[in-house]
Amino acid sequence: MPRITYIQQDGEAVSADAFPMMTLMETALMGNVEGIIGTCGGICSCATCHVWIEPEWVDQLPAPEAEEADMIEGLAHRQPNSRLGCQVQMNEALDGLVVRVPPAE
Ligand code: FES
Repeated sequence: MPRITYIQQDGEAVSADAFPMMTLMETALMGNVEGIIGTCGGICSCATCHVWIEPEWVDQLPAPEAEEADMIEGLAHRQPNSRLGCQVQMNEALDGLVVRVPPAE
C-alpha cells in the first residue's frame, strides 16, 4: 500500500496510506491532512485539492489532462510542480511520494 507524505502549510508532515484507485486528494482526506478540502468531490472544478509535488517526483506522474492544466493556470499559487490532487491516481509506484499543501487560494 503506497504511503504518501503531505507537508502541511504549518510545516507538519502528515503521512497517509493510499488504497489502489484512490486519488491523492482522497488519500489526504482519509489522513486528515489540513488544507486539502476536495469541495467538488473530485470533478476538477474547485482546486481545493491543489498540491505542489516535490520536484523529484514530478516526472513520476502522468502529465495533467487539459482540464486540470486549465484549472491550475488560474491559481494564484501555481508553480511548475502544481497538481490537482483529485486528478492524480494512486499506485504502488508512488510509495514514498511527498507533496506540499500550498496556501489556500
Ligand atoms: S477536488 Fe475539486 S478540483 Fe480537485
